[in-house]
Amino acid sequence: MAIREIIKVPNPILKKVSKPVDVVDDDTRKILDDMLDTMYDAPGIGLAAIQIGIPLRMLVIDISSIGDQDNNEKNPQFFINPEILDPSNNLSSFEEGCLSVPGIWEEIERPDECIVKFVNRNGQKEEKKCKGLLATVIQHEMDHLEGIVFVDHLSRLKRDLSIKKSIKFQKNPTKENRLSRYNEQQ
Ligand code: NI
Repeated sequence: MAIREIIKVPNPILKKVSKPVDVVDDDTRKILDDMLDTMYDAPGIGLAAIQIGIPLRMLVIDISSIGDQDNNEKNPQFFINPEILDPSNNLSSFEEGCLSVPGIWEEIERPDECIVKFVNRNGQKEEKKCKGLLATVIQHEMDHLEGIVFVDHLSRLKRDLSIKKSIKFQKNPTKENRLSRYNEQQ
């Protein structure tokens, strides 16, 4: 288990499309564990493998800390080769942040429910119905697998400005820049 460096904008690695995982083995689980350590250390609630420079279709998510700051019980979820089935037509809006775009939070609209089909860390197929914040986080993370960061959903002008602001923030992070309402960094 190790904390890896998180890749940030404007690094072009973040634009890479990640490849499916062929076999889930100990090497795969080692990467997942490193991703989890890196995410908890940041701190964040979701991380895609490409954010530590590995272009494989893998995500880790743990939203257990949200809304209950006293909850110390961790609930990590691992998604390998995730696919979204049946996204809801209803949209919901969350203020999103991203460990790869530090210093920036923006409201993004996404389907409020979806079913995710994936392979778990034991190599078994699973399906999970995701609602609310979990639906938002999983869609945010799945965008990373396509080389998309959340600010790409904004107008071009707003996106360019956000990336410029994040680059500035990375050079000189200020304490005043809050960690967002709930550390909703993904
Ligand atoms: Ni992100």
